[in-house]
This record gives sequence, structure tokens and C-alpha cells, in this order.
Amino acid sequence: MLNIVFLGPPGAGKGTQAKIVCEKLGIPQISTGDMLRSAIANQTETGLKAKTFMDAGQLVPDEVVIALVKERLAMDDCKKGYILDGFPRTVEQAEALQTFAKLDAVVDLDVADEVLVKRLSGRRVCPLCGAPYHVDRLNGEKSCKVDGTPLIQRDDDKPETVLSRLEVYHKKTAPLIDFYKNAGLLHSIGGDLTLEEISAEILKVLEASK
Ligand code: AP5
Repeated sequence: MLNIVFLGPPGAGKGTQAKIVCEKLGIPQISTGDMLRSAIANQTETGLKAKTFMDAGQLVPDEVVIALVKERLAMDDCKKGYILDGFPRTVEQAEALQTFAKLDAVVDLDVADEVLVKRLSGRRVCPLCGAPYHVDRLNGEKSCKVDGTPLIQRDDDKPETVLSRLEVYHKKTAPLIDFYKNAGLLHSIGGDLTLEEISAEILKVLEASK
């Protein structure tokens, strides 16, 4: 059983790698971004609270996200381990997580801002299953390979929002690198390699954390 956090700026490849690694290890991917987008689509109370923050590229308030994750980790499928993708994102969230979860490893994907802007502006996603793609590798294909749904561009991948998301990352989330280094859990991986190279690096690190 491995309880894992994927850390890294927007566009670092957390979602892409979490999907690959979760499938290999047979554990659930818990993406707070996906959970919040689904809450917005279903017009739940959480979704209504989250929407304005997400549209502006700002973080949703800690108490909203912490409650969402706490409830999700209590579900049966998390007993065999999980990957948290996009949580925690503030020191307050990391401290709260310590009170209801015991982590085995934190994988930090380290990618330069210029590369992130290029990745996010070319990203297309499946609105149904959340699978991420990039226009450079789609060869003109416009539908999801998994379920055939037409791909869309996320609202927060527009250029002006991307820049605020990066600013928020540097201010509020980057301090978690030291937080988890001090806890002896951090493994940094250069995220500007090919998808396959990064997956192989992550699996090597996780094997050693067992
Ligand atoms: P969220 O959905 O978590 O977005 P994010 O962290 O900004 O991360 P992304 O999904 O943009 O990037 P990713 O690292 O998963 O990259 P991906 O694999 O898609 O959060 C959205 C919003 O929700 C936040 O702004 C906030 O408002 C709110 N929120 C969520 N969690 C919260 C929390 N804990 N607290 C408060 N608020 C929260 O890859 C990106 C692109 O690059 C894709 O096109 C992909 O194909 C491509 N790519 C990936 N890897 C490579 C590679 N190695 N080489 C080339 N291209 C690659």
C-alpha cells in the first residue's frame, strides 16, 4: 500500500502521470481539480463556492478542499493506497492532511515556467473522463481516445488565467517543497523529459519507498 502526493506547478504533468501510475499500481487517482470541476458541473454547494476562484486561477479556500479530500480518503478504495493529484497546495492543507493520512512519498515534478505556458495553452481535455492531451500530439484528432467524447480547452487554460495560476503556485504551493523535504518524503523529478521517461523515474522512486 502506498499513499502518494504528486506535487508540481500547473501543467507539470501531474494528471498525465497520475493516470499512468495509478493504472500500473491499481490504486485511485484523487484529483482535487477534477473533483471541483465535477462539483461545478453538478451545481453542488461546493461547486458554487469553487467556481469564481477557479475561473480566476486562484485557489479554492482551504476548508472547502480539505473537507472534500478528507471525505474521499475515507472511502473503501483508498485502503489500498492512492495518488493525491493537486492536493495539498498550501502549508495549511499539508498540515491538515497530516491529521488524517500517513504519506509514504511525495513526488515533485519540476518544470520551467516557459515550458508550462506552452503545455497549458496547447492542452485539450476530455470533459467526460478528464484525460489530458496536447495539440502537438493529437495529429488533428478531436475526440478522446478512451470514450470518443469531443475534446475541449479548459476555461482556466486561457493565457491570462495561466499566468495567475503560475503566480499562485510560486507563492502558495512551492513552499511545500521544503515542507516535504524536511519531512524526508520528497523526490524531485525533472518533468521536462518524455512521458515514458518520467513514468519510469516515478515508478523507480515509488518502488524504493515501499
Ligand atoms: P487542477 O486541475 O489541479 O490544475 P493544476 O494543478 O493547475 O494542474 P493541471 O491540471 O493544469 O496540470 P497537470 O500538472 O495535471 O498537467 P497535465 O498532466 O494535465 O486545479 C485547477 C484549479 O482547481 C486550481 O487553479 C484551483 O482553483 C482549484 N484547486 C484544485 N486543487 C486545489 C487545492 N488543493 N486547493 C485549492 N484549490 C484547488 O499536463 C499538462 C499538458 O502538458 C497536457 O497537455 C499534457 O499532454 C502535456 N504534458 C504532460 N507531460 C508532458 C511531457 N512530459 N512532455 C510534454 N508534454 C507533456
